[in-house]
Amino acid sequence: MAFDLNNSKVWFREQFIDYKDAHVSIFNKTFMYGLYVFTGIRANWNAETRELHVFRLDEHYKRFLHSCRIMRFKQFPKLYTRERFIQAVKNTLGENNIYEDIYIRPFSFIDVEAMAPTLDEDAFGIGLYPMGNYVADKGLRCNVSSYTRTEDNAISPHVKVGGAYVNTALTKYEAVRLGYDEAIVLDAHGHAVEGSAENLFIVRDGTLITPPVSANILEGISRKSVIEIAKDEGIPVLERNIDRSELYKADEVFLTGTAARVAIVSSIDDVEVGNGQYNVSERIQSLFKEIAYGFNPKYQDWLTTITPASHQEGSDPLHPLSPN
Ligand SMILES: Cc1ncc(COP(=O)(O)O)c(C=O)c1O
Repeated sequence: MAFDLNNSKVWFREQFIDYKDAHVSIFNKTFMYGLYVFTGIRANWNAETRELHVFRLDEHYKRFLHSCRIMRFKQFPKLYTRERFIQAVKNTLGENNIYEDIYIRPFSFIDVEAMAPTLDEDAFGIGLYPMGNYVADKGLRCNVSSYTRTEDNAISPHVKVGGAYVNTALTKYEAVRLGYDEAIVLDAHGHAVEGSAENLFIVRDGTLITPPVSANILEGISRKSVIEIAKDEGIPVLERNIDRSELYKADEVFLTGTAARVAIVSSIDDVEVGNGQYNVSERIQSLFKEIAYGFNPKYQDWLTTITPASHQEGSDPLHPLSPN
């Protein structure tokens, strides 16, 4: 049976409950102030082999932990080892009998009802969401946003934290209002750094160029994967700043993200990208897809693979909580 959000189960405050019963108060600090660390993970259903492949769980755990450290969230690092996190994700998929593509949303949030935006005790949860294509995989028409990306010492782009997505929401709103599909965002120094919720790559003379980690970007897991794939394919990769004007000179441009996957840009501010040939982007896009669905054994260790049989055996108990 297809996944039904309204009848799904979520892992919430250390137990499985009905999605419809997972609530927070209007005076919950996270609701009021965006104190919500999260990640988004795709699980991809391979109908041929009848296997569900969860993409790069180790990387998601590491980034989640780093976000918690930066945000001074203390409970998640205390309660969730890598193994326990992975088990919680597997159990959530098992509780919902997932046999299709699904988006997994682990989150930690300040679970306290009071007025001051202070960093008190955090609680953890995982929900599932039926996400198809977030944006088209090719032909994206982008603008360069009038909003700039926040700086590391204000709201750090290194942290995947709810409050930072005010910037994303305004950027995306403006792009759509102006008739574009997506936006490319500059940082305060005028460098092109990201999409509204994606990392940015350009191709010039056969070389893949993407802004470095220190350029006010989120360290995207898709970005890291694309860099690794390109290097394996012998495609040169440069991590360096990208000037706005280079966007209009690039041979190819694409965006990467868990939601967007590899999405090829066809124009920026109504200037057509390159000559309309996207050979490097298409090669990366098709390899990325092949890997994500478990068709490429070379990258098997990027995937946590679950079979229907392991669902039916029931969820494994979560490892006991470590002592406080
Ligand atoms: C601001 C921002 N940059 C980049 C990304 C891409 O990161 P990832 O590939 O880990 O999904 C996302 C999406 O999560 C994002 O929100």
